[in-house]
Amino acid sequence: MNFELKPLSLTGAASQKCDVLMVMVPQNHVTTRDSFSVWLGELQRAGDLPTKAAQMLLLYKPAQANARRVVLVCVGDGSARQVRQAVVAAMTSMRSGPIKKVVLAFAQEAGAGGVRAAVAGLAEASYSYTSTKSKGEAHPLQKATLAAPDAAQWQTEFDRALAAARGVALAKEWANRPANHATPTQLAKAAQALAQHTKMHCEVLGARDVAKLGMGAFLAVAQGSDEPLQFIVLRYHGAARTQPPTVLVGKGITFDSGGISIKPAAEMDEMKYDMSGAASVLGVFRALADLTPAINVIGLIPACENLPGGRAIKPGDVVTSLSGKTIEILNTDAEGRLVLCDALTYAERFKPRVVIDIATLTGACVVALGAVRSGLFSSDADLANDLLHAGEAAQDLCWQLPLDEDYGEGLKTHFADVANVAGRAAGAVTAAKFLEGFVGGYPWAHLDIAGTAWRGGSSKGATGRPVGLLVEYLARQAELKTSPQPDAVADTGRSAGKTRVKRT
Ligand code: BES
Ligand code: MN
Ligand code: ZN
Repeated sequence: MNFELKPLSLTGAASQKCDVLMVMVPQNHVTTRDSFSVWLGELQRAGDLPTKAAQMLLLYKPAQANARRVVLVCVGDGSARQVRQAVVAAMTSMRSGPIKKVVLAFAQEAGAGGVRAAVAGLAEASYSYTSTKSKGEAHPLQKATLAAPDAAQWQTEFDRALAAARGVALAKEWANRPANHATPTQLAKAAQALAQHTKMHCEVLGARDVAKLGMGAFLAVAQGSDEPLQFIVLRYHGAARTQPPTVLVGKGITFDSGGISIKPAAEMDEMKYDMSGAASVLGVFRALADLTPAINVIGLIPACENLPGGRAIKPGDVVTSLSGKTIEILNTDAEGRLVLCDALTYAERFKPRVVIDIATLTGACVVALGAVRSGLFSSDADLANDLLHAGEAAQDLCWQLPLDEDYGEGLKTHFADVANVAGRAAGAVTAAKFLEGFVGGYPWAHLDIAGTAWRGGSSKGATGRPVGLLVEYLARQAELKTSPQPDAVADTGRSAGKTRVKRT
C-alpha cells in the first residue's frame, strides 16, 4: 500500500477524489475559517456530529467533498490512543466495499502523537492474514493520503510511523504463521531476504557451528526436534564500523510444546507465536531498511522447536552453556531462557552499546501485566528510561519490574551452577534473573512480551509488538548522535541531551 503525507487544508483534503474521506473530529470540535470546518460546525449545532470516541457518521457523496463516502469519526480527546482506536474502527467498518483510495484528515491539528496514531491505526486495519488460506482475499486498499496543513512539520513522525507499521506487519505475519510454515529454516530465509536491503548482512549458523561454539543450552532445547535449529545473525551498518552496535536478541521458538514437561492441549496451538521476539527483530530490521538511521544494529535469533522425543532433554539433565556455566534443566518448558542465555553470551563479541532481548518468556508476565504493557527488566536505569519513554511515544507500552538479588535465590541448585526454574512465585522476575546471570559487561534490558505479542478472543492473532517501541528507541538513538549537543549538556549529563529531543 502506498501511504503519503500531503500538505492540505481540511477543504483541500475534501476536494481530493477518493473512495473514502475520513475526517477525525475531536469531541469538542471548534470551528475554524475553513469551509469544511464550518460545515462540521453546522452538524455539531444540529447534534449530528459524533461526540463519543470511535462513534461515526457515514455520508454518501455529500456536496462538501469529492469522495464517494465520507466518514466523520470522533477521536474523543484526540489522544494517540483514541485516534488510533477511531481510525481502526472506521476502517474496519469500511471493509465491505471496494475501497481503493482513502484520504484521512484531522478536523483539528492533532500533533505528533495524532499523526503517528493515524498511520498505525490505518496500517493495523489494513493488515489481513492470508498466507495459509487457499483464497487470499487481497486487501483492496491501494493508496492512503494523510492530509495536514503543516505536513512538512510532521514528515519525520510520519516516516517513522510508516516504517514501524511496515515492521509491525512483517512481525505479525511471521508470528501468525503456523509452525509448519514458519520453521527455523524459513525464518532464516526471511532474514536473508531482508538482508538484501542496502547496509544489511545476514549470516546463519547451523547445528554444527553452534555445537562448535559450545552453545550447549541452545543445542539442548533443539535436540528433541527433527527440524534443524538456526542461529540467525542480522547486521545493519548505518554508521562507521567503529560505532558500538545495539544488539537485539529475539527468542525464536517456532513451536513450544513444553518438551517432556509437556503443556496442556488446550490452546497449545498458540505456542506457534513463541517466536514473536524473533519476528519483532525481523520487523525492526524491515523498518531500519526504510529509515536508514546512522547507527549500527545487530539482530540475533536463536531459532528451534521445543518438542518431546527420544532425544529430547529430560527434567534433571545438566547442560553446559556457551558461558561455561552449567544449567540444571528442571523444567523443559522453561526453554526460552536456555536459547537466550547462549545468545546473550554470544552478543559480547560485538562489544555492544546495549543489548535488548525480546521474548515471549513467561505465563507469569501475562498474569502480572496482561496484554497492555510488556514486562521490562533492566540492569541500567538510563536504558530502562529510554525504553519506557520510547514505548509511550510509540503507544507500545512497557512497565519495569524488579531484579533484586533475593529473587535469584530460587535458582540455586545442588547439581549445577544454576537451575532453569525457581518456584511459582514471581515467575517473570525469576526468568529475568536467570538471564541476568548470562549478561556480559554491557547494559542490558529484557522485554517479556508473552502478554502483548498476541491477542486472544475474536480478533485472535499477533500484534507485532514491540516493533513500535524498538523502532522509536533506535530512531531516538540515531537522533541523539546526529544532532549537535549544546555545551550545557556536558554539565547536566546524558539525560539533558535527551530531553532536548521534542517528542510527545
Ligand atoms: N513460551 C512460554 C511462555 C508463554 C506462556 C508465552 C504463555 C506466551 C503465553 C515459555 O516457554 C514457558 O513455557 N514458560 C513457562 C516457565 C515455567 C516452566 C517456569 C511458563 O510460563 O509456564
Ligand atoms: Mn516453554
Ligand atoms: Zn516458550
